[in-house]
Amino acid sequence: MTDTPTTMAAMLLQGHGDIEQLIYRTDVPTPSPNTGEVLVKVSATAKNNTDRKVREGLYPTQDNSTVTSFQMTESPTLSFPRIQGADVVGRVVAVGKGVSTERIGQRGLLDFNIYADQRDDINLTPDYFGHGRDGGFAEYIAVPADQFYDMSDCPYSDAELAALGMCSYQTAYHMLTSARVKAGEHILISGASGGVGTALIQLCRLLGATPYAISSPGKSEGLKALGAASVIDRTQVSDWRSAVAKATGGVIIDAVMDLAGGSMINPLLDVMTEHMSQRKDYPRLSIAGASAGNVTDILWTKIYLYQIQLFGVSHGTRAEARQLMHWIRQGDLKPVLHGTFPLSELHAAERYFASGRAQDYLGKLVIVPDSEWQQHGAPYAIQGVSA
Ligand SMILES: NC(=O)c1ccc[n+]([C@@H]2O[C@H](COP(=O)([O-])OP(=O)(O)OC[C@H]3O[C@@H](n4cnc5c(N)ncnc54)[C@H](OP(=O)(O)O)[C@@H]3O)[C@@H](O)[C@H]2O)c1
Repeated sequence: MTDTPTTMAAMLLQGHGDIEQLIYRTDVPTPSPNTGEVLVKVSATAKNNTDRKVREGLYPTQDNSTVTSFQMTESPTLSFPRIQGADVVGRVVAVGKGVSTERIGQRGLLDFNIYADQRDDINLTPDYFGHGRDGGFAEYIAVPADQFYDMSDCPYSDAELAALGMCSYQTAYHMLTSARVKAGEHILISGASGGVGTALIQLCRLLGATPYAISSPGKSEGLKALGAASVIDRTQVSDWRSAVAKATGGVIIDAVMDLAGGSMINPLLDVMTEHMSQRKDYPRLSIAGASAGNVTDILWTKIYLYQIQLFGVSHGTRAEARQLMHWIRQGDLKPVLHGTFPLSELHAAERYFASGRAQDYLGKLVIVPDSEWQQHGAPYAIQGVSA
């Protein structure tokens, strides 16, 4: 680590609250790689909804109290100050014990999970870089060598690669695998324009399934270009059954991939239970987000009499991350990058993400360290918004 500075720029989250809790510092100690880790010089880190939710404390699991930290194990893993940012791209600049020095110089994309064990097929206590450990809203990050996937030969730029990060893609893939989505099936996707939704559309196509998107106005053409067979404008729907039938030509919806929760859940369940005798498999719904609300009244007799299978999804498995990295390298998944912001302007990025998005916003925002901005950020700056 001879050429690595002892301090770095980073955005520190000081506690739960509004964006004022995010403080930009240039004197944060540079981390050192532990055994089995690599030190990465960060060039791009995608923003995720979870950054805002963690900051605001919006992860209730016992009751719907307003400030609740994300905690899957007996003791909390979030402590302050914390550097957020999960989906990191950069280059290896140093290695810890047990890691070949041949890794130095390699460009990679991080599998953002802090896995509890080596199991390939299950991830029972999801946690991640940017929450349980420091993340990529910084100039350097230390991460497990086996989770920093070589992307040297991948044609995408660093910002584009970050937009393909696992927080969205692994979650989307695990939603589909949980619900056993297969070729030939017809899949309805809410929240389709966001990071997870745009990943779901592409992954459905990759699996041979047909995706139908639910979104708000202005995004229809972009979503169809990604692979959506048709797009339902959620702001114009009064009767979901007829809106879905019109958009799909009346096909049976095999499964719903839901990121909205709230009042959309019941109508989306009803869409699947309408023609039970014509279905080939049980109605299935995977949910990984609740942008429309955490609390909904559900008639449980509807769930068990119609044998609706519900899948709660958080992150995914090591095996799924590996598969996704393979598809990314092959160019089977396309980045959906809306724009970039410099790290020092993360406040502006947060405001844009929460309330200032352009009407045609699709996919991801990516944060670039100021020292890397000209090369990796400036080409994707949002006109009139980011630097
Ligand atoms: N469980 C996990 O492991 C995991 C991982 C990643 C993300 N998530 C969660 O999944 C959700 C989506 O994440 P993301 O990164 O894709 O977020 P995102 O980029 O903000 O996209 C969410 C989309 O939901 C739609 N939406 C917003 N408010 C809505 C409402 N009231 N009703 C219906 N749709 C609404 C919006 O699209 P339109 O306006 O175009 O409809 C928005 O683009 C978030 O809640 C996030 O926290 C969970």
